[in-house]
Amino acid sequence: MNIILLGPPGAGKGTQAKKISEHFSLPHISTGDILRENISNNTSLGLKAKSYMSRGELVPDELLITIVKDRLSRKDCSEGFMLDGYPRTIPQADALQMILTESGKKLDAVLNISVGDEELVKRLSGRRMCKCGASYHVSFNPPKKDGICDVCKGELYQRDDDKAEAVRNRLDVYKKQTQPLIDYYDKKGVLRTIDGENDIPRIFEDIKEVLEQYE
Ligand code: AP5
Ligand code: MG
Repeated sequence: MNIILLGPPGAGKGTQAKKISEHFSLPHISTGDILRENISNNTSLGLKAKSYMSRGELVPDELLITIVKDRLSRKDCSEGFMLDGYPRTIPQADALQMILTESGKKLDAVLNISVGDEELVKRLSGRRMCKCGASYHVSFNPPKKDGICDVCKGELYQRDDDKAEAVRNRLDVYKKQTQPLIDYYDKKGVLRTIDGENDIPRIFEDIKEVLEQYE
C-alpha cells in the first residue's frame, strides 16, 4: 500500500503515522524528521535547510525531491510506503508522480487530515518533543512525568518552529502552497478526507477503516 498523509501543520500527521506504521507495517517517511536529523548531524543538507525551517518556510523543492527519490528507492519501500509531509507543493507532487511511474508503482490513497486553525495553534503551541522521536502535548497527550519522556526518560523540548511567529507563518505557507494539493489529488480520485478534530484513537479508527480497503 502506497499512501500520503496530507494536512496542515499540527493536524496529527506524525501522531497517526506512528500508529499506521505499526498496524499496517509501512515505513514512515517524514521529510520533516529527515531534515531535522540532518540539522542535528550538521550535514550540508541540514545547513541549507535550517534557516528555512526555523522561519516556518518551505525548504526548496529540488532538495526535497532528491531526498524523497533516494528514500523511496530503498528496499524497505518495495512493499509500500507512507509519506508524511511530502509533497507540499505542486512541483513536488508532479515529481513524485514521475518517481512512481519510473518504478512501476502507483499511489493508493491520500489521507487529508482536516483540522481548523484555532485547534492547530493549540496543538502546536503545546507540543513537546523528545530526542528519541516521541512526541507529546502538555494537555492533550501529556507525559507521565512533567517534561520527561515516558519512553527514554529524556528531557522534553519545544521545536523552534512551534514558537508563535513561526506557527503563523507555517499556517500561511500551508494555505498558499500546500492546500492546492487537496484539489490536485481529488481530481486524481485518490483523496480521502478524515475529520482530524476528533481525539487521537477515534481518528485512527477512521483511518483504519479507509486503509483496510487497500490491504
Ligand atoms: P514537518 O515536520 O512536516 O511539520 P508540519 O507539517 O508543520 O507538521 P507537524 O509535524 O508540525 O504536525 P503533525 O501534523 O505531524 O502533528 P503532530 O502529530 O506532531 O515540517 C517541518 C518543516 O520542515 C516545514 O515547515 C518545512 O520547513 C520543512 N519541510 C518538511 N517537509 C517539506 C517539504 N516536503 N517541502 C519543503 N519543506 C519541507 O501533532 C501535533 C500536536 O498535537 C502534538 O503535540 C500531538 O500530541 C497533538 N495531537 C495530535 N493529534 C491530536 C488530536 N487528535 N487531538 C489533540 N491533540 C493532538
Ligand atoms: Mg509531523
